Parts: sequence; structure tokens; C-alpha cells
Amino acid sequence: MNRRTFIKGAMALTALTFTNPTGFICTPTASAEARRWWQSKEVYQIYPKSFLDTTGKGTGDLRGVIRKLDYIKSLGVGAIWLTPVYVSPMVDNGYDIADYTAIDPRFGTLEDFDELIAEAKARDIRIVMDLVYNHTSNKHAWFIESKASRDNPKADWYIWRDEPTNWRSIFGGSAWQWCEERQQYYLHTFATAQPDLNWENPDVRRALYDAANFWLDRGVGGFRIDAIVYIKKPSVFADGAPDSDGTCSVHNVTAATPGILDFLREFKREVFDGRDIFTVAEANSVKPEDLPEWVGSQGVFDMLFEFSHVNVMFNNGDEVWHRAKPIKLSEFKAALTASQRATRDSWYPIYFENHDKPRSVNNFFPHGSDKKLAAKAMATILFTLRGTPFVYQGEELGFANAAFDSIDAYDDISSRGQYDLARADGLSDKQALRFVQKFSRDNARTPMQWDTSANAGFTSGTPWLPVHADFKTCNVEVEERDSDSVLNFYRRLSDLRNGSAVLLGGEYAELYPDSEELYVFTRTLGDKKLCTVVNFTTHEVKLPAQISGAKKILGNYADAKNYLRATEAAIYEL
Ligand code: GLC
Repeated sequence: MNRRTFIKGAMALTALTFTNPTGFICTPTASAEARRWWQSKEVYQIYPKSFLDTTGKGTGDLRGVIRKLDYIKSLGVGAIWLTPVYVSPMVDNGYDIADYTAIDPRFGTLEDFDELIAEAKARDIRIVMDLVYNHTSNKHAWFIESKASRDNPKADWYIWRDEPTNWRSIFGGSAWQWCEERQQYYLHTFATAQPDLNWENPDVRRALYDAANFWLDRGVGGFRIDAIVYIKKPSVFADGAPDSDGTCSVHNVTAATPGILDFLREFKREVFDGRDIFTVAEANSVKPEDLPEWVGSQGVFDMLFEFSHVNVMFNNGDEVWHRAKPIKLSEFKAALTASQRATRDSWYPIYFENHDKPRSVNNFFPHGSDKKLAAKAMATILFTLRGTPFVYQGEELGFANAAFDSIDAYDDISSRGQYDLARADGLSDKQALRFVQKFSRDNARTPMQWDTSANAGFTSGTPWLPVHADFKTCNVEVEERDSDSVLNFYRRLSDLRNGSAVLLGGEYAELYPDSEELYVFTRTLGDKKLCTVVNFTTHEVKLPAQISGAKKILGNYADAKNYLRATEAAIYEL
């Protein structure tokens, strides 16, 4: 058991000094010896509810993950990030936790979990858990106690106030919920059923650290830490700058509040330090230029999922879908370049998809792009930027968005919130639905497609969300057999990266940053230089002069021309 002295109180907290997270410093030329295990393999993200159902109940489970470990291994994966599998009422599909140290029976048992760790370990894969520490479920015993009165032992474990502010929750509606029992409002950054914890209370922090240590002691390989930017609230609770409807997104008033890093440094010291694990935190609104404070030798995490490149279509971190603007390639590239620069001396989690984002073949390419080429093009970037690639289930098969034809067909709580917001802003039902179809989190949550059998082999029962209509052609079984499939292209990219010192450690530089057609960047180590080129248009584009005549190593078109075809992606040796 790795217990440390816990220093109570905010005064003590700010006075502490901290060491390097795990003693690693990654310079662009980091040698193979200096590299940590999670830097040279990719991470595979699993949304267990949609992965594989072994009982016929319509939702996936841990035994389903165990059953597919060889498949996951075949992708070159070093770690699996599991989205939450703890006991939960599932209002937000597990991100509303009612018990931090128990597995929800819908996913299986603690024994299944231990078996998963052991079976994964036998394949040199570690299991990474999702820590949801900004909030709990309203069914958590802590909240039930907290709401019962104003003077119980957990009375201030959550954020209680007599008066609400104009803050809007991230899923829509007021961020304050009236509680009859206590005759007060509680704050919920996300759904009403997800009350925010009060991190100012040292007992809350202690309980959270204990839960994380419980999983570390069972052998997990690290954590993805959810919505961490919201844990520190401002000292004064006042209305924020109002939107047209008078409300202000809670994101705009509470994200990355000064002082948050003091909490996080303590978290690191109490839980992460001295362990052979990695941490990657979700941090919407941390800007690339602030990354050095958050990651690496001076920071608190090993990696940070900041949102700058996946949110280029939004003006703010508050992500109002119907206010999205078209993506400008130069802005997308600038965001990636800024993150690559800011993590030059640390490390970056490369991602384009997860359980909250639309599928990249729809998200980043113009309408009419060939989906298979687009999936391979995105993968080419994913595996050749500097950092650890995070592959989200189905991304390696080229999954596309699934548009449902009525708002009632959507399960995702944020889709319904965004729909209501759009309607309140005067959009018609059809217009509001169009934005949901484009951005809904359900796009990424449709069941995994394993084969051509009923329900794509995901379940023998009724799937909790419809299987995508393209499952007969886009599934593991079919793609295994096709040497030109997206799946086999992923494997080639993974092999290329894992065997390439340049791709693992080399320095990143962007070329032609103003181009609205091409993304071109190089990776350099010593006298070796590789260059990735992706054509984001549906027309031919001249090959940049620097690449002309260079040797092509891999691409989504078999042959090489002196121009780039629609959606063409290629890696060259310069
Ligand atoms: C994170 C999760 C998302 C969840 C939210 C609230 O953004 O990725 O799925 O709904 O936090 O926990």
C-alpha cells in the first residue's frame, strides 16, 4: 500500500513543494531507454457499454473486453483506457458514479475486473481507469448524506448555496438544482444527477485519493482524469456574462480557476508519484501555451487532453453546437502545432476521436470525401505527430457518424440539452436535429461492429443503441480479410511508428501553415527526416516542392504521383 502523509487544509496545500511526476523528462531526442512504456505504444479507448455484450442484455461488459484482448493486442496497443465501469445509475453512461470502488453489475464483477487486468498483463497491455472526480452521482451515499441536512458530517462535501447564479450547466438548463430536504441549491456542472464535489474540503480530497489508490493497488496502469478543469470554483459566486437567453455557461466561469494547480499537485503527490503509471487529464480550455504548467517535469500530469484542435469549430469552450462555424484547416493545424510546440519537452496525447466527439471522417473532411481514404488520412496524422496516439474503438475500422431521424432516438443527455438550447434560440425542429446529427456524442457510441451477423456480432439481444447501417461492410471480420482495409492500414502505421526512432522521438515542424488544402509536417531526429502530407480537399493538389522526388514510405493510395489526389495522405522520407 502506497500511503503518504496527507496534509490537511488549504494553507498546508499551497506551502508544499513537488517533484517531477514520475521522474521523466522527454526531450525531442529522448532515447529508447529514456522513453516510458506508454510513450512507445498506442492507447486504445474502450466504451464498454458499446464494445461487446456476452450475456444478451444489449449492453457490453468486461468479459466482452477480455474476449477481444487478442484483437486489441493485434493493433499494437500498450494500454486500454476504459470509460467508467463503476456502480452508476447511468444517467450519463457511467460518468455519474455512485460507488468509486465497485464495478457496476451491468459490466460484471470485481473478479472480472481482476481477470481483465491479469489477461491484459499477459499480453503486455495495462488497464487505465477513468476517474470522475469533479462530481458524483446524486445517488452516491456521500450526496445522500450531504443533502439530508445542513449540519451532517458530509454537509459541505458538495457545493450548496441559498441563491442560484445565472450559470448554465454543460448539458443545458440551470447549473443549480433546488433541494427540498436542505432548502438550498446544489451546483452541477453537468447533469442534475451529477452534483459537484467540494474540493476545498480536505476530507473529500482524501476520500478521492483513497479510491484512486484502491485501483492502483489492484494493478491498473494509470488514469484518464475526467473534466478536471472544473474542480476549483471561484471564490465569489456571481453571474457570468450573459448569452442571449440571460444564462452563462458554467464552463466560462469555472474552468481552470486560479488555484486549481495546488489541488492537482497534492493529488499527484498523494496518488501518482512513484508509481509506474501514466496520467492523462481531460482539460477543456487549458490553452497550449499553458501546457508546461500542467504536464511534464514542472506539471502535474503526464499528458493532457486539451481541446484546441477538436474544438476549432467553436468560439468558446462551451461548445454550443448550433453556433459552430465551419472548420478552417489553417486553424486546426495551428492548434495542433501550438500543442506540439508546448509539449516539446513533455508529452502529448494525440487524439481526434473519443466517446464525446463525432467520428473524424465526418468531422474533419469536406462533404463528399471518400470515407475510407479519410479514415486512413486521419490515422496517418494520428501516428506521425509526436506523442502517444489514442485510438477510439471503431476509429481503426473507419467508423462514420450515425444520424438518427428523431431527437427521441438519441440516448445522449447532452444531445437533448443541445437540441433544447437550439430550439430556445429559435431554430426549427429540423434545424436543431441537424446539429444533433452532426455533433451528437451518440455518433461515437453506436455498438462496435465485429462481423456481418445480426447486430454486427455486438449482442444476441437488442442493442441499447442501434448498430450503424454500414455494419455489413465496415466490421472487424471483413476488414481483417482485406489487405487494403482501414484496419490493416492502422496496423501498418502502428508498426511503422513503433519501429521508428524518428516518429517516436523526433522533433515536429510544420510546413505551409497557411495552406487551406494541405497539412504538411516533418519529424526530425539527427539526420533523419520524415514528412507527412495530407490533402484535406476533394481535388488534386500539387505536391510541395520539398517533397517532390522524395521516397514515399506509406500512404492511402498505393502508388505515388507528383501531385496529391483527393484525400490523399502519405509519409515521405526526406
Ligand atoms: C467528460 C466525459 C463525458 C462526461 C462528462 C461529465 O467530458 O468525457 O463523457 O459526460 O465529462 O462527466
